[in-house]
Amino acid sequence: MPLRDKFDLTGKTALITGGARGIGRACAEGLAEFGADLALVDIHAGNLAAARAEPAEAWGVAVETYQCDVTDETAVVRLVDTVADRFGRIDILLNSVGITIWQDTVGMSLEQWQRVMEVNLTSTFLCCREVGRHMIERGGGSIISIASMSAHIVNTPQNQVAYNASKAAMIQLTRSLAAEWASHGIRVNTISPGYTLTEMTQTVPEHHPGWCERIPMGRMAEPDEIAGAAVFLASDASSYITGHDLVIDGGYMCW
Ligand SMILES: NC(=O)c1ccc[n+]([C@@H]2O[C@H](COP(=O)([O-])OP(=O)(O)OC[C@H]3O[C@@H](n4cnc5c(N)ncnc54)[C@H](O)[C@@H]3O)[C@@H](O)[C@H]2O)c1
Repeated sequence: MPLRDKFDLTGKTALITGGARGIGRACAEGLAEFGADLALVDIHAGNLAAARAEPAEAWGVAVETYQCDVTDETAVVRLVDTVADRFGRIDILLNSVGITIWQDTVGMSLEQWQRVMEVNLTSTFLCCREVGRHMIERGGGSIISIASMSAHIVNTPQNQVAYNASKAAMIQLTRSLAAEWASHGIRVNTISPGYTLTEMTQTVPEHHPGWCERIPMGRMAEPDEIAGAAVFLASDASSYITGHDLVIDGGYMCW
């Protein structure tokens, strides 16, 4: 098959968590551009409605939205059944839900620690388990989770021990699933962005100059600069890549 055709996602269905805005939304638009139908999942109903129109109109793909808290096990089980019923298949899972809490460790409550772990790590486990079950039955698929360069480095000046630990754990969760599910035709990878211009970071503009000084490329990423990697990892163009973490950080980790 020509390499160009391997990027084609026509007829495939992608379930994207955190798909209402930021990196999840940008990746969803990229997947739609290459032909994938979308199941956009988010806890925020208003943002979901806004995210729905563009890929449907621009690329003519089917788009459905699902309001769901992906830390809720019962809700995730129901979600995956509903999406599988609606589209008949789930070929791609992209986990983009995530939060951080900036807090010195001695001031961090157990509740704060658990909240970050629940949203970043437990939700990834739940979505992978439920979609993985479906992919095993269907004989394959591609799972991508948005980790972070914070899995590899310690950010400064903000202290965020739970976030950093949760992201490192997402990578090892991914490697474990990659090994466990390779024989089922399921590839499992992470993308680790550096600082990216989304609502997560736009709320703290005073930190941008200091962060950018530490980035060889001298700037933060736009969300759509993460989307190309998502399309690649979702598609047959990456058919021998599994258990991999693709860092997209403008060179941050070089220094
Ligand atoms: N922005 C960055 O600089 C950056 C860098 C590295 C990694 N990341 C990671 O990328 C991912 C996306 O981040 P972003 O910057 O786009 O953030 P964002 O806050 O813009 O988007 C996150 C989305 O997740 C949704 N969400 C949060 N909790 C949820 C829940 N329990 N159930 C369902 N939906 C929920 C939010 O409503 C939001 O739409 C996160 O995992 C984040 O940790 C971001």
